[in-house]
Amino acid sequence: MIKNLRKRFPVFSKNPDLVFFDTAASALKVDSMIKAVNDCYSYEYANIHRGIYALSSKLTKRYEDARISVSKFINAESSENIIFTKSATEGINLVSSCLSDNYFNDGDEVLLTSLEHHANLVPWHLVSKKIKIITAKIKPTGELDYYDLLEKINSKTKLLAITHMSNVTGSITNFEEIKIKANKFNVPILIDGCQYVPHKKLNIKQLDPDFYVFSAHKLYGPSGLGILYMKSNWIDRLGPYQGGGSMIKNVETDSSTYLSGFQKFEAGTPPIAEVIGLSSSLDFINEVGIDKIYEYENNLTQYAYSQMIKNNDIIIYGNFSNQTSIISFNIDGVHFNDLAMLLDKKNIAIRTGHHCAQPFMKFFKISGNARMSIGVYNSKDEIDYFIKTLDEIKIILKS
Ligand code: ALA
Repeated sequence: MIKNLRKRFPVFSKNPDLVFFDTAASALKVDSMIKAVNDCYSYEYANIHRGIYALSSKLTKRYEDARISVSKFINAESSENIIFTKSATEGINLVSSCLSDNYFNDGDEVLLTSLEHHANLVPWHLVSKKIKIITAKIKPTGELDYYDLLEKINSKTKLLAITHMSNVTGSITNFEEIKIKANKFNVPILIDGCQYVPHKKLNIKQLDPDFYVFSAHKLYGPSGLGILYMKSNWIDRLGPYQGGGSMIKNVETDSSTYLSGFQKFEAGTPPIAEVIGLSSSLDFINEVGIDKIYEYENNLTQYAYSQMIKNNDIIIYGNFSNQTSIISFNIDGVHFNDLAMLLDKKNIAIRTGHHCAQPFMKFFKISGNARMSIGVYNSKDEIDYFIKTLDEIKIILKS
């Protein structure tokens, strides 16, 4: 049981009645992470990787130690496979751009799914002059159609780009069969793990993707920082992505040579304080225990689901057998934005709209829905309050 974590989140000291059910959009910020970022800017700050003085060297070490913390957190072979970007979105753009420069041939197929967030769709659209985008369907229940996906992997498929956990439904993708078929055709896999990593242990050695992205701000960490895991063979083959300081070996006015390894992908002054903050938020998660977090949040989600299905007017999207932390729904006859505004008056924060997943909404012929999502600071009492408030709002809006 996770106890008293709410007090670790300063936002609640100013907003004691806040019931925050929008962690899937961005998690609230934990006190130790805020302190680490504040201390970094207040007492430790200098640019890194370029100063021959104590302040710079110390922070460079902390920054590179943070890379090691990230690699341990996901059980990667080495911190050399961790690339810091400004967001998970930038990580996917980096991969799509570099694959387009140095891997795809005209007409190659990239297989996506209708469950993807726009961040794992639009970067592929940007290189679609070269590639052909194939989309795996979702089922009427809202879960991925694995049969359709497996059928669409063939010798023309040059990449699979798939979410690890849907940001709309919370459904977790099972990669077992996908990997068998992908390996048969030697197809690399990119996984969008933004929603998965904050809730469930990621063992990247076991999952063995070629590329994996996630973001710091969903891990109770700072915004403005994404993490891209890239297998060593791709690090050697791809890039650079952007040019500038920090990624060069030698520069002339009309040409330059580049560093190898992750450094060639990290041009410019990096997100220093954000990386220090991420390291601290990972310490927080490690102290609580990611397995405990999963168990706690999953129990809350299943409880919320069991209460919501009692209400015949609530339409829930997805198949709940393999979903966690997120419940996406509409109330029959009620606009989701009206619902969100009335919930806000009762201090309950949820996200409504298309959740950056328009293909999902189009499949269900809706413009959007309401999404409640859970973090470590939520409680069963809050879910009871949410369910009671939903009932009250339904009566008001339908009368
Ligand atoms: N990807 C975030 C969400 O699902 C922003 O809300």
